[in-house]
Amino acid sequence: MNEPLRIGIAGLGTVGASVARILKSKSNSLTHRCGRPIEVTGVTARDRTKDRGVDLAGIEWFDTPEALAASSDIDVFVELVGGDSGAALDSIRTALRSGHHVVTANKALLAKHGVELALLAEEKGLILNYEAAVAGGIPVIKTMRESLAANDVSRVYGILNGTANYILTRMERDEISFEDCLADAQRLGYAEADPTFDVEGFDTAHKLAILTSIAFGTRVAADEIYVEGISNITLADIHAARELGYRIKLLGVALRTATGIEQRVHPTMVPLGSMIGQVDSVTNAVGIEADTVGSLLLSGPGAGGDATASAVIGDVADIAKSLPGHQEAPVFGRPAKELEPYQQAEIAAHAGGYFIRLTVHDRIGVFASLAGHMARNDISLASIVQHGGVKGGEDTQKTVVLVTHETTEADIRTALEAVLADGHLVSKPQVIRIEPAG
Ligand code: NAP
Ligand code: HSE
Repeated sequence: MNEPLRIGIAGLGTVGASVARILKSKSNSLTHRCGRPIEVTGVTARDRTKDRGVDLAGIEWFDTPEALAASSDIDVFVELVGGDSGAALDSIRTALRSGHHVVTANKALLAKHGVELALLAEEKGLILNYEAAVAGGIPVIKTMRESLAANDVSRVYGILNGTANYILTRMERDEISFEDCLADAQRLGYAEADPTFDVEGFDTAHKLAILTSIAFGTRVAADEIYVEGISNITLADIHAARELGYRIKLLGVALRTATGIEQRVHPTMVPLGSMIGQVDSVTNAVGIEADTVGSLLLSGPGAGGDATASAVIGDVADIAKSLPGHQEAPVFGRPAKELEPYQQAEIAAHAGGYFIRLTVHDRIGVFASLAGHMARNDISLASIVQHGGVKGGEDTQKTVVLVTHETTEADIRTALEAVLADGHLVSKPQVIRIEPAG
């Protein structure tokens, strides 16, 4: 029998406890598949007394992630602590400097420090795997980094946050409030320690930044991404979307344009009947458009302990199977030294259709004003739907939903500023982009 691969797990929460439990329960089949046993030799978390639902007898407990990362009794350091700095960052640096391969599910950290860590890993000839960091259980990193070597990618997009998709699905299906849906997602272990990352789009942006780097060979640039979350989406938007044949999804989209790379995260109208429109609940989906293969849509569970553990253990198994001296795929698909500088395309130039929901005072001249401002900005309307009139204080209010043909972000902004200035609106317009979806 070959020598066991010795792993240290830092973090025994939703993901870490699942990883430890599955490594134990599937130890025989993993040994067969990898050609050697995978043995957990060290663990750490904050609270040593907490019951994790997994037997840790015979495994050394370390007081800190850094102490575990520096141990000479591990070959692979598995970071499942979370956070883009502090213990997670320090321990991964320590593990690489100590000559240990690293597996992490930490997209926030990779979005901020991924290139630095890739340079360190590649310089040391070590593996830095992170399949679980993007789209949970979907093997998208491996697909993009290895299986699509024959392709130039033109667009990558997807539902990349399980919590946000779970909330939007439950709001539509069960008509329950945003807050109740979020509480359920937290109870199920889907949400980040700080759930604003999920609902305000930052977690999607972290994942998109990683996919963009692999797709386009550029340095990771999460801070350049245009980000809007779902916290302003109401049941009224969801109903209006449905009436017009759409569903609202939080999408991350990256594409190459003539002026750079357009990266954006925002609520998006996708056709009800499209494949991505059918991706519900905690399920994620990643669409890839590439020259040789054409279009791919990968879908599967995007969050949760076991689904994420599946990706983490797949990464560990790849290390167990790797041959000494064999050059692994570079961390971002090409050597980190050769990643190109990132050039962000202007969001104002984004072209597409728009859904605009307005609450207006029900007065003579409102429609003429709306139509006039749209026409003056070359915006062609595909449909107008109005609902009314609800008593609002002194007057009656109506909801007007406009769907535009393709136009630019800049024209929409100019037209809506003019509409606002006319004083017909009761509240800020709700603007949701429409994406041609697979
Ligand atoms: P979690 O349930 O909050 O678990 C975090 C673990 O880290 C806990 O065991 C905690 O210890 C430990 N920890 C936190 N700070 C520590 C410190 N300073 N020193 C030692 N241990 C520390 O988080 P999670 O959901 O498992 O997520 C872990 C990572 O996976 C994050 O990067 C997350 O973004 C990523 N991820 C999560 C999912 C998911 O569905 N949950 C999916 C994909 C990726 P205690 O238990 O003692 O408090
Ligand atoms: N909080 C994340 C989500 C976990 O809901 O998608 C998976 O990355």
